[in-house]
Amino acid sequence: MVSIDLSDKRALVTGSTRGIGRAVAELLARASAKVVITGRDELRAQEVAREIGANLGAETVGLALDMSNADSIKQAYSKVEGLWGGVDILVNNAGITRDKLFLRMSLEDWEEVLRVNLTGTFVITSLAVKGMLKNRWGRIVNISSVVGFTGNVGQVNYASTKSGLLGFTKSLAKELATRNITVNMVAPGFIETDMTAVLSEDLRQEYLKNIPLGRFGKPEDVAGAVLFLCSEYASYITGEVLHVNGGMY
Ligand code: NAI
Repeated sequence: MVSIDLSDKRALVTGSTRGIGRAVAELLARASAKVVITGRDELRAQEVAREIGANLGAETVGLALDMSNADSIKQAYSKVEGLWGGVDILVNNAGITRDKLFLRMSLEDWEEVLRVNLTGTFVITSLAVKGMLKNRWGRIVNISSVVGFTGNVGQVNYASTKSGLLGFTKSLAKELATRNITVNMVAPGFIETDMTAVLSEDLRQEYLKNIPLGRFGKPEDVAGAVLFLCSEYASYITGEVLHVNGGMY
């Protein structure tokens, strides 16, 4: 039987109290990894960690980690080091949108999205990578978006961060390859989560017309791609983008 066994691995998923991040955390736990669940609300993170731990018999811990705040990221990561010594797998999932047409977009709308989606990713990755370098093993997966490749009306800020992650992924992959650390990106299309629940029915139907597989994605569809990239089956893949979008791009 072919299976993915991450039982000797420690993983951290940013923004994992709901949506795609939670599905990723659950699937990594199913593959027997130890998982740190993180979110802005510590009690919620602990609750989700307890649920996943109890349901799957996995070792999990929940911590507050606000991606818009470098000090919060550093504090959370030092707790992880205290508990488990570091992580082997980092999934940079947390992301926000502040959609507005460009002419109405304020500098604050721009900076807020960059702070969480790009700067936060830079800060947590620079902390997590140190232990990976020592161990000469690591997996970093960045969650981008199809709009980073296609662009989208009202998302100049968000799309810039999601294509920015491509440069981040490809450059870091080259820097870390000799240490057996892979850096890849998963670019989801339209996935049913809180982020897309706010879109109007008309807009949803419009998107659906452009999805050859004829349905929106589920968080689990994205989690499967992430698990593959973290597994031994992807050990010769780095700097790559895996599109998970039902064929829309
Ligand atoms: P969501 O809104 O349901 O979840 C986002 C997660 O990020 C939540 O857990 C939230 O608490 C967390 N988060 C937000 N701000 C944070 C902060 N300052 N610090 C720490 N955590 C924070 O969204 P969803 O859909 O699960 O998105 C996950 C990732 O997937 C995001 O990076 C998003 O851009 C990306 N994505 C989502 C798509 C979709 O159709 N849902 C499509 C393409 C990409």
